[in-house]
Amino acid sequence: MDKFVIQGGRALRGSVRVAGSKNAVLPVLAASLLTDEPLIVPNAPDVSDVRSMLKVLESLGSQVTRRADGALVVCSAGAPGAEATWEHVRRMRGSVTVLGPLLARTHRACVSLPGGCVIGVRPIDLHLKGMRALGAEVSLDGGDVRAHAVRGLVGNELYLGGPQGPTVLGTANVMMAATLAKGRTVLHGAACEPEVVDLGECLIKMGAKIRGLGSPRLEIEGVTRLHGAEHAVIPDRIEAGTFVIAGAITGGAVRVENCRPDHLMILLERMAEAELPYDYGDDWIATVPYDTREHRPRPTDVTTLPYPAFPTDLQAQWMALMTTARGMSLISETIFPDRYMHVAELMRMGANIRRQGASAIVMGPANLSGAQVMASDLRASAALVLAGLIARGVTEVHRVYHIDRGYEQIEKRLSALGASIVRVDEHASIDTSEPSEDASTLPVRELTPQTAATAQG
Ligand code: EPU
Repeated sequence: MDKFVIQGGRALRGSVRVAGSKNAVLPVLAASLLTDEPLIVPNAPDVSDVRSMLKVLESLGSQVTRRADGALVVCSAGAPGAEATWEHVRRMRGSVTVLGPLLARTHRACVSLPGGCVIGVRPIDLHLKGMRALGAEVSLDGGDVRAHAVRGLVGNELYLGGPQGPTVLGTANVMMAATLAKGRTVLHGAACEPEVVDLGECLIKMGAKIRGLGSPRLEIEGVTRLHGAEHAVIPDRIEAGTFVIAGAITGGAVRVENCRPDHLMILLERMAEAELPYDYGDDWIATVPYDTREHRPRPTDVTTLPYPAFPTDLQAQWMALMTTARGMSLISETIFPDRYMHVAELMRMGANIRRQGASAIVMGPANLSGAQVMASDLRASAALVLAGLIARGVTEVHRVYHIDRGYEQIEKRLSALGASIVRVDEHASIDTSEPSEDASTLPVRELTPQTAATAQG
């Protein structure tokens, strides 16, 4: 198991290129099951969630190749198998999106329930409601969802939202199922996230008839067959946002390239409110350097809500940033009310945070100091890395396999921006006495909590 060892205190400088969106590519890969022709994705990020999804597809009989130019080619030429088993699905919730395509193409599917995770209970009742509305018989049996539609799926009109609002993967799943259903489906309360729009655009390239993308009302006219396509997914807005916050939190000059600022307007608006300087163009955002000893951000509240409001996937990173603000900021989480695993770890580093139900109050400014902290989920890990970049002394972030799920080689890209961050095997050791000029060549000595405390001091 790997950990990151971070020596805090360096302002980041340079440019970083954003990868293809993890959350866009997962359902796009599932869409390959809707056709017997190849689907080509030139810019799928090489992250562990994508590798898990490819394993699920291979277990269903798809052929997967990564071309020399990095493009992924997925082909489900024969009739795909109908069973996505627990062994494969448990690794990643996004794999539930094979349900809709399998039902649409083979009229039956058995997909293990993905189960809850540390960010909260994560039901799929809305996915199942959608499949039932399209005529599937669905039952739960031994932790598996079993669904069939003997004469195929039939279009219908339904409201798909739930108590917490629209569902992103649920919309993706039902939209994919409806592309091959008989007749017209009208989805009300659909998710408007850019990743759903991107999937819709991929499906349209494959021959689907979809109207209303980006709005809560989707109209899908079923077709008898879809064909192969080539589709580059949108840049990862959460990765872009994380690098923007990395620039801002260190008072650095980071130019985040190949991103879509129009997907991050709420982040930019909150940064302006926090008096954090930045600039942006069509496909880049750059943080403007400032002296972190003289200028502290203004405390700025965020409430996570469906797109285009503040994304839950940037909540933890924003909280890390607000630990440096001069006063109290309120963070409210309406999507996953329990998504606060990072709070205790940030407090270990000296942050002053009080959680009350689905909200957290961050009292700044805190002078964070390096500590041993535990990554618990993908975005919480990103927040701990950001905190480590500004903490006095050495921070060790354990269990970084969580961060590998969604960020491609984040430590190398942060190092290229001037951060002192290295990945080491949990059982290797590291010398923290002198920060090395080249972080990737740091010598190694075991860092116990005691030596870490010394390093902080
Ligand atoms: N919900 C239900 N029933 C359902 C589905 C969802 O009640 O059948 C509830 C959820 O419990 C939650 C809300 O609806 O309260 C929204 O959940 P949603 O279904 O939109 O989440 P998701 O589709 O499972 C995707 C992303 C998450 C991201 C959320 C919200 C992928 C693979 N995952 O999950 O990304 O946080 O949308 O934007 O696309 C991440 O990348 O770190 C991540 C967790």
